[in-house]
This record gives sequence, C-alpha cells and structure tokens, in this order.
Amino acid sequence: MFRDSVLDDYADRHEIVALCDVNPHRLSESAKAASKPGTNGVATYLADDFDRLIADQKPDTVVVATPDFLHADYIVRAFEAGCDVICEKPLTIDLSRLKMIIDAQARTGRQVKVTFNYRYSPARTQIRELIASGTIGTVTAVDFRWHLDRVHGADYFRRWHRQKENSGGLLVHKSTHHFDLLNWWLGSQPTQVFASGRRAFYRPETALALGLADRGARCADCPVAAKCDFELDMSKDAALRQLYLEAEHEDGYFRDLCVFDEEIGIEDTMQAHIRYASGATANYTLTAYSPWEGLEIKFQGTKGDITHRHVEVHGVFGGERAHADEDAVTTELHLAGEPPRLLDVPKAKGHHGGADPVMLGYIFAPDTMEPDRYNRASDHVAGAWSILTGIAANASIETGSVVDIPSMLKARGIRI
Ligand SMILES: NC(=O)c1ccc[n+]([C@@H]2O[C@H](COP(=O)([O-])OP(=O)(O)OC[C@H]3O[C@@H](n4cnc5c(N)ncnc54)[C@H](O)[C@@H]3O)[C@@H](O)[C@H]2O)c1
Repeated sequence: MFRDSVLDDYADRHEIVALCDVNPHRLSESAKAASKPGTNGVATYLADDFDRLIADQKPDTVVVATPDFLHADYIVRAFEAGCDVICEKPLTIDLSRLKMIIDAQARTGRQVKVTFNYRYSPARTQIRELIASGTIGTVTAVDFRWHLDRVHGADYFRRWHRQKENSGGLLVHKSTHHFDLLNWWLGSQPTQVFASGRRAFYRPETALALGLADRGARCADCPVAAKCDFELDMSKDAALRQLYLEAEHEDGYFRDLCVFDEEIGIEDTMQAHIRYASGATANYTLTAYSPWEGLEIKFQGTKGDITHRHVEVHGVFGGERAHADEDAVTTELHLAGEPPRLLDVPKAKGHHGGADPVMLGYIFAPDTMEPDRYNRASDHVAGAWSILTGIAANASIETGSVVDIPSMLKARGIRI
C-alpha cells in the first residue's frame, strides 16, 4: 500500500530509496513493482543488511510493515539512525518492546506515525464529531462487537499471527484498531480491563466434526482440501502465488497452514470489560468465525444514544465472500424525548471504507489536506494506548483477574 501510494500518487514529493525484506524472492518482486521504466530500479537489502541500507541510502523515513513482533526492533534502529518511522499497526505487541520504543523516542526525539486507517473513514469520523460536539451528552457506556468472517478471520490462524509471541493474539493484533477507535471516540484512556478468551472454533475437534479427520499440515498437500471450506489454494491467486507460494522455498514461510492445528496459540473468541479514565465503561466482543463480517456499536450518553452498524461482508458461501455495498453502513441517533433518526452517513471510495486514500494524503502530502479537526494522526502515545487494552486483556485472561493499567505501566517503568 505505502509503496504503490508513493509511486502512483506522491512521486513528485517522495522517493523510495530502498526496499528491505528477509525473503529474497519477495524483495525482488517488490523491487520490480517499484522500478520506474528506464531506470536502474530500486536498491534492495536483505534484513541482515538493514544498517548498511541506512548508511548507504540515508532515508529520512522508514516504513515498517513486517510481522508485528519485529516492529519495535526496526523502530528503535530507525530512531537511533536519525529517521522518522511510519509503522503498521500494532505499534508493538508487549510491554518490554513498548518500553524500548518509548525510551528510544524520548532519547532521540524522532517520530513514529502508526497508521490507524479506520480513524479516517468518513463514517467513523462522523461518530467522533457527534461525540466530541456533545450531541449525546457525556458518554457513559459502550457496547462494541466486531465479527470477522470465516475467510478473513480464518487467515489469522494460517500463518505467523497464530502464535501470541508473533502477534500478541487478536486482542493486540486486530483489536488495536478497535481499542484505538474507542480511545479516540471517547477522548479517553483505558484504566482497567477484565477479559475472557479461548479458542472455541479453530480446533482439531471442529475439523473432525466437519468430516476432515485426515487433514494435512497445510492446504497445498492436504488430502481433504477439496471438501474443506477453509482451503486456501495459493496457486489459484496470482498475488498469493507470486508473493508467497513461489517465495516459500527461501524461508519456509507457509501461508496456508491448517487452521485447525492443535499448536495454534491465539484465541478466536474474546470478550473484555473496560473502564476508562473518563468514567465510561465498555463491553467488547471479537469473534473470528462469524457467518458475516462487520461491527456493531452503541454509545449510551446522558442525552441519548448512537447506534452504528457496518456490514462489510454479508456472508461466506462455499469459501466466497459476498461483499456488502456502501449502504450497509447505518448510524442512528436517538436523543431522549425524540424519535430515533437515521443519519446520512458520508461515503468515500477506497480501501477500508474510503479511509486509506485520506490517511495516505495526510501522511504523504499533509499541506494539500484540510487541517485535521479530528486529530486523526497517531503517534507513539496513541499507538501505545491502542495496545495497552489488549495487553491488559491478555494478562487478565492469563490470571483471571482485573488488570489495572497504570499499575501495570508503573511496575515496568513505562511512562507514556
Ligand atoms: N492496517 C491494516 O489494515 C493492515 C492490514 C494488513 C496488515 N497490516 C500490518 O502489516 C504488517 C505486515 O502484515 P502482512 O499481512 O503484510 O504480513 P506478511 O507476512 O504478508 O508480510 C510481512 C513481510 O515482512 C517480511 N519480513 C519478515 N521478517 C522480516 C525481517 N526480519 N526483516 C524484514 N522483513 C521481514 C516478510 O518476508 C514479508 O514480506 C503487520 O504488522 C500487520 O499488522 C495492517
């Protein structure tokens, strides 16, 4: 996304000076895509040569889009080399790495932007405006449910995300978006979290119930793939074939591991109760095997409530997703003493509900954009708060206790 955005839309302002990846095949494919005709192309470096890349090319900004557990290392090395960073979500996955980032930021004064694209979708910005302007008074209680379907949700159980040491589990990897939205919508920060989580669906027992007893370790050589709705056939998709199937001999990164494996370490069913500094409380649910995909949220305020629903995918039929159109977003405002009314929800074109092009505009050409009244840009502070709910929820699942976030930070010497 970042590469193509610079090349296609912002080439007059920015230049990609080098690409870096641990996988030589993917690196060379990306370099081909980034090379302008008639030039010598873009410099490439394997991951071990990252410091040489910095020394040779002297970039001013490093874009980090590796698996989550590696973000902190690259952010700190980039800061130390005098670079700013644009980092994919989540900022990082645990407290020790968070401390490394916070300390390095304070030491170097460099900046990291965490790309929370959801903040930029017009439907979500409208909610921020309604709440910030006091339309429903003070927000007291929130119910927030996010459902991933059996294509998108299943994908986290096939590859590196499936272990908490790589992704922090879905309460960090995925919910960082949702908890960031809550922090931003409420204009507050989480203080206490109690959570439950388990793997209820992506288990060997489910495979047995589906008649997939003889399943293989991965789809590519699975004897029952033909009758499995969760099969990922990378050979049939040009991008998956080129970027993953044809690259796997280099590093053994298999993108189609069986979603029903015993060894999976993350949850697929998670609920959390969260208290905020503002006094508001929230109930949150995330599932990863829903028949449809989208979100439902209700904000209860002292003057009324807001109910927002977004159906992104109507359902999954034989492995194919039926995408909903833009009309599947509704926001209802119900003020006390008045009938409920459906609001006109602003729309925009582009990925993530029209969010990505707006976000990329603010990142790569901020002077061409309207001043950001909604404070959507996210730095290390917003990035940190967005993962702290999930990190606390993981700790709560492990201990069965309520986790107090200020105490958790104090115990680790983290000052945000
Ligand atoms: N904002 C969003 O909506 C969104 C969507 C998808 C992914 N993401 C984020 O993007 C990041 C990448 O996710 P993905 O799905 O593209 O993963 P991926 O596995 O498809 O790609 C990761 C890339 O990093 C490379 N890599 C692995 N180890 C490396 C190392 N040590 N040094 C350099 N490169 C290394 C891999 O070879 C691969 O090319 C994640 O942090 C994820 O959370 C964000």
